[in-house]
Amino acid sequence: MQPSDMLFGTFRNKYDQGALLVKDFYDDAYFSDVYNQMCETINDKDQYLAMISRDQKVLEIGTGSGRMFHFLTDEGYDVSGVEPAGEMLKFINPLYRHKVYQIGIEVINSLGMMQFDCIIIPATTVSLFDFATFEQFLKDATNLLTENGEIIFDFWDENYVDKLDDSLQKVKIDGKSVFYSNFIRDEQLIFNMYTKTDEKGKLGVSKKYIYTEKYLREACAKYGYSYALQEVKDHCKMVRLAK
Ligand SMILES: C[S@@+](CC[C@H](N)C(=O)[O-])C[C@H]1O[C@@H](n2cnc3c(N)ncnc32)[C@H](O)[C@@H]1O
Repeated sequence: MQPSDMLFGTFRNKYDQGALLVKDFYDDAYFSDVYNQMCETINDKDQYLAMISRDQKVLEIGTGSGRMFHFLTDEGYDVSGVEPAGEMLKFINPLYRHKVYQIGIEVINSLGMMQFDCIIIPATTVSLFDFATFEQFLKDATNLLTENGEIIFDFWDENYVDKLDDSLQKVKIDGKSVFYSNFIRDEQLIFNMYTKTDEKGKLGVSKKYIYTEKYLREACAKYGYSYALQEVKDHCKMVRLAK
């Protein structure tokens, strides 16, 4: 699917009127800054804090601008990360920058002999991965995790996801209105964002996959993990997979 095929409703109209569609939402200078400001409203830090112990070596998949990475590091945790988007990495504190590798989850085994007690995937990031990529990650992670290692992440509650469909939201960032919405199409969740950065404005899209407990239980059984639902909060399910 071309990025322009992933625009709907008012966002499609903006595109037809000449708004610029960026290639990669997370690797765009403007939208990474918008994300960096918006993500501070995500209320999951205490949940992750409660589930990781301080003596664990942690790997965060998709650190983004470092919201969780900086928080846990400042709390004294030994956190490393992976993040493919260079624009996101610009927000990482230079003191810790060497601990974030610029790679995607697809090549996580390039971390070679490194070992982690806990791999975290906060902020519903797992939805960015198609199921084949996620399953390859489960396979690769068995080598990256220590003996009792675990994977902790959150995903949109599948019983709530319908409510995200076509519901237009607006936030103010640096005095400008930023509009966004999600659209359910062909069992995927397509995120659209628009800001009037100039005369025509700027658009970003991101394709997401809808994860369910049923799917995750089956995938865990297939790749030898135990699955435990920890909590449902803010319409997100927090789960712990153990090797
Ligand atoms: C929703 S943000 C989450 C950022 C951060 N973890 C947080 O909690 O705020 C998702 C991040 O995943 C990154 N990402 C996208 N594709 C990825 C991939 N294939 N592997 C790893 N990270 C990826 C994006 O660039 C983005 O920074």
